[in-house]
Amino acid sequence: MTGFLEATEVYREGQRTLPGHYYTSPEIYAVEQERIFAERWVCQGRAAEVSNPGDYVLRTIAGESVIVVRGRDGALRSFYNVCRHRGTRLCEDPRGRFSETIQCPYHAWTYTIDGQLIGAPHMDEVAGFEKRDYPLHPVALETWEGFAFLKLLREPEPLSQTFAPLVGRFSRFNLPNLRSARRIDYDVRANWKLIFQNYSECLHCPVIHPTLARLTPYTSGANDLFDGPYLGGYMVIRQEGGSLTMSGRACGRPVGALPPEDRNRVYFYSIFPNLLLSLHPDYVMFHTLWPEGPGRTGITCEWLFHPDSFDEPGFDPDDAVRFWDETNRQDWHICELSHAGIASRAYQPGPYSPREAISAAWDREFLRAIGQAR
Ligand code: FES
Ligand SMILES: [Fe+2]
Repeated sequence: MTGFLEATEVYREGQRTLPGHYYTSPEIYAVEQERIFAERWVCQGRAAEVSNPGDYVLRTIAGESVIVVRGRDGALRSFYNVCRHRGTRLCEDPRGRFSETIQCPYHAWTYTIDGQLIGAPHMDEVAGFEKRDYPLHPVALETWEGFAFLKLLREPEPLSQTFAPLVGRFSRFNLPNLRSARRIDYDVRANWKLIFQNYSECLHCPVIHPTLARLTPYTSGANDLFDGPYLGGYMVIRQEGGSLTMSGRACGRPVGALPPEDRNRVYFYSIFPNLLLSLHPDYVMFHTLWPEGPGRTGITCEWLFHPDSFDEPGFDPDDAVRFWDETNRQDWHICELSHAGIASRAYQPGPYSPREAISAAWDREFLRAIGQAR
């Protein structure tokens, strides 16, 4: 997608791209799933996507199907999609609403939407059986800035601790109160790491994104997070009062109480391991990444606006949506070509330039995360 900049502070002379097997090997994919996606907080999207009691979505994390459901008490909870009787998957539709309970399609064990078992046919004939001993297996869920995060690990580090370097960093963007205008799902034939690497540099912008390059010079801006799991910085919007839209103008009211310098900046942050956060003056776009194999990634992109923008006459979120949908597709296409080339016998790691310093930093963080720091 987009990115950077004057990142010479993190540029390490001589760092090369990762060897090909990191992108193609089922063994590396399995390690990533275990060491990263099963152990880290993974962004599942906006908490408000599951808004009414009984509403749910299914997410797949490290091969596990997880039910995220809004309780009658208003709390968001998540459970493994696994029956406590004989293990059957409880729920198939990717999203929907449970009427009152969650019922297993096999022998009709029935659970409340907060996970308690309340019905188990003929189990009263089993000595010592107590329904209270068989709640659904919980998955940890916490929210940050209006986003919900899941963690499979049984005793996870609190999200506030993991996100300590980010706490308060985006307050001015009013993230918890923003409302979603659109969501688009993409299916990309490329390894998930290529999406991060693409997002982390704008060296490709003049070549791949002529419309974007007109609105924001690819050499503009600076990074403020350049090592570790959170990386990024800003680029400058050329036109006063402009934004990254088809028209080049802002298409919503400012998302929050932004200081003057933020009125013509776009901030791009990658948040390990599956969130990309792009903060514009008039909207926030985010991507969540869902690896589905070494060569395939599901990507969900969503556009958030100030709630008052929706009441304004002529409000047209499509101005932003169409701009990024086009830009996204350009990025996904080049990531697919990149993946195809990396899978070749001829591929060898190539040298990063100073303008790809954030992509290189992301690789280092990835290697740390799978216990292979160089
Ligand atoms: S496996 Fe779910 S009720 Fe039997
Ligand atoms: Fe791009």
